[in-house]
Amino acid sequence: METRLHRKLTTAVKEGNEEKNRILGVIDTLFASIKLRDAVTAEHSLIMARISFRLALIHDRTNAGMYYVGSLTHDIGKLAMPDTILKGNQLLNYGEREILRQHVTDGVDMLTQLRMPKLVIDIARYHHERFDGSGYLEGLKGKDIPLAGRIAAVSDTYATLVTGRPYQSKKEHKEAINIMENERELFDPDIFESFLQIATGIEKGLIE
Ligand SMILES: [Fe+2]
Repeated sequence: METRLHRKLTTAVKEGNEEKNRILGVIDTLFASIKLRDAVTAEHSLIMARISFRLALIHDRTNAGMYYVGSLTHDIGKLAMPDTILKGNQLLNYGEREILRQHVTDGVDMLTQLRMPKLVIDIARYHHERFDGSGYLEGLKGKDIPLAGRIAAVSDTYATLVTGRPYQSKKEHKEAINIMENERELFDPDIFESFLQIATGIEKGLIE
């Protein structure tokens, strides 16, 4: 379900900007690898990218396109995870959760080696940080979490809920919103407010 927006934001520009074309080429290849390895993570990343893009249009407009492509690779570190954890349908035990967390570090390492822009790396690095300090890897709190992470926390959580996980059924749009409203302390209040504003558009499929 790659949309016109996807094609527009991931297609190389015709001439001039070689570095941008290199970045888009790398992202395209990485996303193709995710699709081959795990269709669920690919689908999840596409949904997240659309929400990140819309939130960035409100909070970091000039970088909105980079939020889109950065969301496509936010979970790239999952390529290194064993199938038993990536696709297993059991709740994870402590050791397995540690391996799951490792996808953040692995993703940051991969994206850094590939000389991706800081924003793309930051989306991978901070997408599991939570506004109340309960997230990982660094357990940052409030505005200590870079904007990329605060936007990604909202878009990633919604995308996770509506895509489902191997051990958790996927939620309908309204249920996902309810769950997020009940744990809104996890999110930057301004960004969460924007999310609620665009949520109607998401439900009606207006956000492609
Ligand atoms: Fe993740």
